[in-house]
Amino acid sequence: MELNKDIDQFDIPLAKRTYINNPNSTLLKKLLIFSPFLLLFFSVAALRFIRNVELIPLNNLKFQVERNNDARILGHLPYNETPKEKLVLIEPHIEVHIDMRDSLLKMREEAKKDGIYLVFLSGYRSINLQNDIFYSLKSIRNQEASERARVSAPPGYSEHSTGFAIDIGDATQRETDFETDFENTEAFGWLIKNAAKFHFKLSFNKDNKYIDYEPWHWRYEGSIEALKVFESSNRKL
Ligand code: DAL
Ligand code: ZN
Repeated sequence: MELNKDIDQFDIPLAKRTYINNPNSTLLKKLLIFSPFLLLFFSVAALRFIRNVELIPLNNLKFQVERNNDARILGHLPYNETPKEKLVLIEPHIEVHIDMRDSLLKMREEAKKDGIYLVFLSGYRSINLQNDIFYSLKSIRNQEASERARVSAPPGYSEHSTGFAIDIGDATQRETDFETDFENTEAFGWLIKNAAKFHFKLSFNKDNKYIDYEPWHWRYEGSIEALKVFESSNRKL
């Protein structure tokens, strides 16, 4: 008994474990449990980011290749010659695609009602005629092809060969025919306000990089055939 008492004296108290509810350690535990998932999540996010960073320049390159391969020559897109049976004479020497005849004539009528006198200068042009215009004028003016192409399309590349393009002047100011000054005429002002109602659009505006501004040159986009013809040109590159 005496001995037991002694032993009790030296008894080492049992280690007491207290679990302190420490919020930091709970968070750490949670983090440890979820760390494989977090690692996976961040790896996937990082991979996606790297892929995007790599893809942006690749896409730009693809876009650039498409742009360079869109079949332009000196900035002009290729156009087929419209078959003869689709052409109609609207004035002596002026033929246009049958799809646009009614709309074009109606536009001139409506302009007249507003006191504006439109005059048609050039409609359909065969590839042969475009060939003569492009090469003869080029040599007369002693211009290189690239200079001439700013004002005239190479043969096979003119909207006029489709029959859907029309050059328009002001009957009261003929000195502005085929001149940039045409933009100051009442006819041009009227066209800018009203041509879209008749499905006409200015082909070569001031923003065109390759071709000089042509306020007189309008194209028709009021039929599916016309829209197909100008699809490439309307696609924003
Ligand atoms: N003047 C325009 C560009 C053409 O020749 O078709
Ligand atoms: Zn024209």
